[in-house]
Amino acid sequence: MSRRALIAGNWKMHTTVMDACHLAADIARLCADVPDRDVLLAPPFTVLSEVSHVIRDSAVIVGSQNVCWEAKGAFTGEISPVMVKDAGGAAAIVGHSERRQIFHEDDALINKRVRGSLKFDLLTILCVGETLEEREENNTFAVIEGQIRQGLAGVDAVHMGKVVIAYEPVWAIGTGKTASKEQAQEVHAFIRKLIETMYEKTIAEQLRILYGGSVKQDNVDALMAQQDIDGALVGGAALDAESFGRIIHFR
Ligand code: 13P
Repeated sequence: MSRRALIAGNWKMHTTVMDACHLAADIARLCADVPDRDVLLAPPFTVLSEVSHVIRDSAVIVGSQNVCWEAKGAFTGEISPVMVKDAGGAAAIVGHSERRQIFHEDDALINKRVRGSLKFDLLTILCVGETLEEREENNTFAVIEGQIRQGLAGVDAVHMGKVVIAYEPVWAIGTGKTASKEQAQEVHAFIRKLIETMYEKTIAEQLRILYGGSVKQDNVDALMAQQDIDGALVGGAALDAESFGRIIHFR
């Protein structure tokens, strides 16, 4: 089963309008010759429109780093799926470990976001991942299973075509410590099997599972060669056009 690779850049809380426009333009240029893979940029809310505008004639798509479940209303500090689309976005990241850990978003809240995002037809990237402590206590699979079962609660099979799962071990994010290709593959295979038991085999086979956590130009090829790794969610290295360009051109 071949799945189309997806390389996503999560810009986190970086970039002014000017930085963002330059970075997006450079990336769009570097993507011009990669027709067989998808490239997604997730800039801060404040520059979604500008970045969408800059990449409009390229194959790059844009998404938000989080999303609310309602179209509008009294939700101070949030962004709605309608606003994401209005700004030119087609995707949303949900449940990033920084949202879980720093802002205490739990699985029930993340599930509302996932369902809201899917209701408005956004490509929805659900992030999951264990902490170092959870890994050392041999709880990795239990943690991942809980996050996926709760994150996807109430999501029916017809919407699974718009779901992407990103496995991001918390201990590998921004630390320079990447999961080994074997460690990542093991969890990705587990996730695919879990989706098969929750849904069905074809849905599991079509699901794209991204790896995130210190993906760099010098480790991307080995990670992408793994059977169940279908792409990358890149943080730090996505802020440098040259590095991200090399990651997009993984071999
Ligand atoms: P780094 O690539 O900086 O480790 O960040 C990964 C990440 O959190 C992407 O969402």
